[in-house]
Amino acid sequence: MNFVISEAPIAEVGKLAAVPISFRVEEIFHVGPRDPATGAYALTTQPVATPFRKNYDGLRGEGPRDWARRFDLTHWGFLQARAGGTRVGGAVIAFNTPGVDLLEGRRDLALLWNIRVAPPARRLGIGTALFRAAEAWAVVHGCRELKVETQNINVPAGRFYARMGCTLRTIDRQAYKILPDEIQLLWYKTLPTAKA
Ligand SMILES: CC(C)(COP(=O)(O)OP(=O)(O)OC[C@H]1O[C@@H](n2cnc3c(N)ncnc32)[C@H](O)[C@@H]1OP(=O)(O)O)[C@@H](O)C(=O)NCCC(=O)NCCS
Repeated sequence: MNFVISEAPIAEVGKLAAVPISFRVEEIFHVGPRDPATGAYALTTQPVATPFRKNYDGLRGEGPRDWARRFDLTHWGFLQARAGGTRVGGAVIAFNTPGVDLLEGRRDLALLWNIRVAPPARRLGIGTALFRAAEAWAVVHGCRELKVETQNINVPAGRFYARMGCTLRTIDRQAYKILPDEIQLLWYKTLPTAKA
């Protein structure tokens, strides 16, 4: 599939809702203890008894049309993938935004707030191109590190972030009060320094 990545105005980020984010959960990560030598978590997969569909946009207030109401998007970027005039994917990246706790109050940390590829276009390299564009965006905006959150029920995303060079640094088994069965996984990647 031929596709083009470009930056769109952040005011248009609500349009990302037209790209489905949902995926089918057939297996989950079991998170084992850290390796004392490397600090890496032991991640293994296990099948779920009853596969189900997960749709992050279905959670109240969590969809792309809600973000502008909830946050100041001044320091946010919207990267999109288009194929034949259709939006087939997008990534949203943020830094220096009060109220986004995942940014840890740091000015040098960028958060990959959202990344999604339309189901028929997955596994074709579009996610990789969006991730690389998000990294470049973060570097241009003076960030030194990239962070992204996912959950143990999202094995495809976990595999994807690992493949992108991210390291699983932190897990929180109690992060989601309304989703007590899900474990929060926080991935980080050191970014290259911006060229002068
Ligand atoms: C995660 C997502 C954005 C990846 O996008 P993509 O365009 O399919 O990814 P790519 O084709 O660039 O994949 C790059 C590599 O990541 C890994 N990867 C991607 N999807 C994978 C999957 N389903 N299972 C295992 N590995 C996977 C593979 O190593 C892959 O390389 P390969 O295809 O040569 O084996 C896409 O699966 C998606 O939109 N998922 C639903 C939304 C979502 O969960 N977003 C993240 C929320 S935290």
